[in-house]
Amino acid sequence: MHIKGWDYLQEYELEKEEILSAIEEVLASGYLILGAKVKEFEKLYSRYCEVNFGVGVDNGTNAIFLALKALSIGENDEIITVSNTAVATVSAIVTAGARPVFVDINESSFLMDTSKIENAITSKTKCILPVHLFGQCADMDEINLLAQKYNLKVLEDCAQSHGTVYKNKKAGSLSDIAATSFYPTKILGTYGDGGMVMTSNEDLYKKLLRLRFYGMEKTNYALEHGYNCRLDEIHAAILLKKLNHLQDYLSKRRNLAEHYNILLKDTSLGLPTELAYGKHSYYLYVVRHPKRDLILEELKNKGIILNIHYPCPIHLMPGYKYLNYKQGDLPVTEKIAKEIFSLPLYPSLNFEKLQYISDTIHEIMIKHHL
Ligand SMILES: Cc1ncc(COP(=O)(O)O)c(C=O)c1O
Repeated sequence: MHIKGWDYLQEYELEKEEILSAIEEVLASGYLILGAKVKEFEKLYSRYCEVNFGVGVDNGTNAIFLALKALSIGENDEIITVSNTAVATVSAIVTAGARPVFVDINESSFLMDTSKIENAITSKTKCILPVHLFGQCADMDEINLLAQKYNLKVLEDCAQSHGTVYKNKKAGSLSDIAATSFYPTKILGTYGDGGMVMTSNEDLYKKLLRLRFYGMEKTNYALEHGYNCRLDEIHAAILLKKLNHLQDYLSKRRNLAEHYNILLKDTSLGLPTELAYGKHSYYLYVVRHPKRDLILEELKNKGIILNIHYPCPIHLMPGYKYLNYKQGDLPVTEKIAKEIFSLPLYPSLNFEKLQYISDTIHEIMIKHHL
């Protein structure tokens, strides 16, 4: 059997007719950019996230970038975030002109350790940027309390938390502004790139509309310096179709995660735990083991090719060497980067494959006395 970390082809077969008809409808409409589909998707997805406004953009990285720009963040500003995230989070901060400041993560949740934030705040800090990683929310009450105390903004990175719940509220509705991605692998993903900035603040919303469109409100007249970060009509139309399936995707993911929990509970793998304050949406099913590399090698020999999210903490990457972090600065982040790996989890994954993955893991554990 051959199993990849993620695959969309089976899902595409099931949804092909509605996806192709959505694309055809856009092509025949005469509107390809910033038309009715983008507006409709912004309305429905922001409503789903329990915020007043959504601004569709070209990808999740630019969603973070534009959110920072809307908050007037740039040169000489510091943004507190985590190093255990997609490079995109940090790339967007640097593109905005600001400096990322990393805090360590909590060893059991893999999320921002809120007890480390206060120490990282300086006179230059403008914003805390928690990442709701793998499908769970960072502890937003703690983060918002600190933000209030030090007069900071909070921007949620929701690229991995479509549908995630924190204390009965949706991810994306828990701060000043939030950014998400509709990259194909995401819980709500399109067949290409897409993203959205979400807020309930009308001034930020109006600024975001300008910033994604060269600073313009009317064509060919820039009110401020802006960018080209538009979501296009085809991807909005696809996302509108897929939004109808979001609840189904989420329940399938939770169901698969429950099966993994049962099948793997008697192994020495560290399994993900659902935090008491929320509802996990299982974007990724991340397990850990000190012998991670051996297990991955053996799985590969059996046709199971898995991913690591993420194998190298960002503060130790050459691209961010100038920030002057060194090995040992974020011990939990560095430790778990050596132990974690992601088991396949996407709605069209069938139980036969899940059983094969579990059986193979059991065999490896017995073979190597793990
Ligand atoms: C946590 C996180 N933030 C931001 C992004 C950026 O999204 P995109 O790939 O759409 O630019 C991603 C996805 O890659 C992500 O996982």
